[in-house]
Amino acid sequence: MRAAGLGARPSLALLLLLAGARGSTGSAFDPVPPRFNVSLDAAPELRWVPVLRRYDLDFLRAAVARVVEERVPRYIYSVVGKLMGMLERFLPQPFTAEIRSVCEVLNLPLTDCLLINLAYESTAFCTSIVAQDSKGHIFHGRNLDYGFQSILRNLTVDVQFIKNGQIAFTGTTFVGYVGLWTGQSPYKFTISGNERGGGWQWEHVIKGLIYRHSMVSWLIRSTLSESNNFAAAVYKLAKTPLIADVYYIVGGMFPGEGVVITRNRDGPVDIWTLDPSNGAWFRVETNYDHWKPVPEEDDRRTPAIKALNATGKANLSLETLFQVLSVVPVYNNCTIYTTVMSAAYPDKYMTRIRHWG
Ligand SMILES: *[C@@H]1O[C@H](CO)[C@@H](O)[C@H](O)[C@H]1NC(C)=O
Ligand SMILES: *[C@@H]1O[C@H](CO)[C@@H](O)[C@H](O)[C@H]1NC(C)=O
Ligand SMILES: *[C@@H]1O[C@H](CO)[C@@H](O)[C@H](O)[C@H]1NC(C)=O
Ligand SMILES: *[C@@H]1O[C@H](CO)[C@@H](O)[C@H](O)[C@H]1NC(C)=O
Ligand SMILES: *[C@@H]1O[C@H](CO)[C@@H](O)[C@H](O)[C@H]1NC(C)=O
Repeated sequence: MRAAGLGARPSLALLLLLAGARGSTGSAFDPVPPRFNVSLDAAPELRWVPVLRRYDLDFLRAAVARVVEERVPRYIYSVVGKLMGMLERFLPQPFTAEIRSVCEVLNLPLTDCLLINLAYESTAFCTSIVAQDSKGHIFHGRNLDYGFQSILRNLTVDVQFIKNGQIAFTGTTFVGYVGLWTGQSPYKFTISGNERGGGWQWEHVIKGLIYRHSMVSWLIRSTLSESNNFAAAVYKLAKTPLIADVYYIVGGMFPGEGVVITRNRDGPVDIWTLDPSNGAWFRVETNYDHWKPVPEEDDRRTPAIKALNATGKANLSLETLFQVLSVVPVYNNCTIYTTVMSAAYPDKYMTRIRHWG
């Protein structure tokens, strides 16, 4: 027993040491993505052009081709191609005009650019945490886990959306993708979205678009753009019809302002708020309904809760939240980026690209 234990121990210790070194210095290794201003005062057709011009257009075209090829069934490609004329009239602005302009710069058919905006929505595994420290400050963090890591790590950007010369809101996205999965409205609220329901049915998605239901990432962006406070944001995110199920995680400015909204396409299934006076100072959402057990083969929830328990609400900060999001398997090989944010401290919005190099 003893001999075997001794034999095993050094390698385990070494592993832990390596894991620890990676975790605690992860933020030093992991680069911040490029940050761009996108002006909402400019026409939708023009506002992304300066961002696109900073990238190798052949790389962008190859990225679109590969994701569409691997994620979009052929028959859906052909159905969407046929419906494109109608969809273009139905789909909301400014998204459609922005997508059209991306396609014009890339010299690709509009169908490809619409589908890539749909395909990126379809299978994002993620962890989001909203938490309140012992002084009542709200912190919000997320990992975005997805396939195509080597492509998407190179396309991750932080975007400051400018209105009247001011930062109206900030978000993290992939170049060419006009919706947001992560964002902040300064001094108001922060939002992240996690996929629900293990992938979608394309038929529902197309039908939803025809019924003018919102794409899940477009609703995050329009909420950041339009809602004036936490309560208004939660209401809009809970009630607006969507093309797919999703979890929306929202953090606010004031004590108690933190929530996980479990959505189906028509409306809210469940609203799970922070309850700090009863000890619930954080909420962790991965990709499963919080009132159900997580599948054993994908339990990122328990390790995140353990790490938050170990941190304690007195030690909660954007830095310690980043460390929680760096604990394996909350942090895993599919993690593309980690963002930590707090609406009350908008300048501290921080994204790191993970597993760089
Ligand atoms: C992504 O960026 C890294 C760092 O600049 C670079 O080494 C790598 O070749 C890029 N990958 C692709 C697929 O362009
Ligand atoms: C982005 O916009 C903000 C607000 O107008 C401004 O302060 C900042 O200098 C701009 N950054 C760049 C790189 O243009
Ligand atoms: C976290 O702490 C709470 C409160 O002490 C406890 O009930 C829960 O079991 C802990 N969870 C984990 C995974 O450690
Ligand atoms: C939390 O903060 C206290 C006081 O600053 C410190 O003594 C303690 O070691 C910290 N705990 C952890 C787990 O970092
Ligand atoms: C990534 O995958 C490799 C090989 O499967 C594994 O050894 C490693 O622990 C994984 N890393 C993380 C952070 O999950």
